[in-house]
Amino acid sequence: MIRSTLKISRRDRDHDEPPYHGSERAGQNRDRLHVAIIMDGNGRWARERGRPRTAGHVAGTKAVRDAVRCAPDLGITTLTLYAFSADNWRRPQNEVSHLMGLFHKHLETECARLVDGGVRLTVIGRRDRLPTSLERRIARVEERTQAGRSLHLRVAIDYSARESLMSAARRLAAGGPQTRQAFERYVSQAIHAPWGTRDVDLLIRTGGEQRLSDFLLWESAYAELFFTNVLWPDFSGADLGRAVEAFKGRDRRYGGLSQRSTASRDSSPQAEKAV
Ligand code: FPP
Repeated sequence: MIRSTLKISRRDRDHDEPPYHGSERAGQNRDRLHVAIIMDGNGRWARERGRPRTAGHVAGTKAVRDAVRCAPDLGITTLTLYAFSADNWRRPQNEVSHLMGLFHKHLETECARLVDGGVRLTVIGRRDRLPTSLERRIARVEERTQAGRSLHLRVAIDYSARESLMSAARRLAAGGPQTRQAFERYVSQAIHAPWGTRDVDLLIRTGGEQRLSDFLLWESAYAELFFTNVLWPDFSGADLGRAVEAFKGRDRRYGGLSQRSTASRDSSPQAEKAV
């Protein structure tokens, strides 16, 4: 069926995937959140201190550790971090090399901690342009952490949402699904391949900018957005907690009527028209 029309790699088939939740609308369970973060502001953080941009990235790794540590207690079961976009290859060579080295180093040094904490790590994005040593290390950490169930940490490296949509489209076989629902499910599954995941509940961007920068465009169709001026290296577990609290106060309607007002029996379409 849907699955069989996709080209599934050997690793895909062999992997013990979590249940597929491609178009699951979270928020139905607010204790099982998918939070995605655009970690922005490393360069400015470094500049404010008269240090090279690379120092900002190093400081950013500490904020990554804090977020991963605090996430399970905040009800976050999937955390997706935007570490390197497909457009980031345009940065100066020394910064790109530094970032690749940082990913390489931290995947190694954090692996034991991730296993101990029950964190499963997967990397989304292209792999064919990464240094071979990094590609191998990613595969090893994914393998070693695959039993983790307290948190699914997804790190986006060489990632572009548009590219991932295009590659999903390429997977579409002739005579694919006919109904909109089946098509949506099909595309979601192709986009989330090979590991599977669910839609984003809360998308956070640090560093003061308010844009999506080609991140998880399909999965964030109904995500709540949270923008903060805090620069990523300063973003603490407490900041993450505040973002989750703000999210919990939002009224998610998915184009329907407010649950709150339905509960209070005021279902006037004019009053409650939702987007
Ligand atoms: C954006 O800030 C940040 C990045 C492009 C890199 C993010 C990488 C890390 C936080 C390193 C650690 C990650 C892992 C997973 C080990 P920017 O450089 O665009 O900041 P600016 O807008 O102030 O210049």
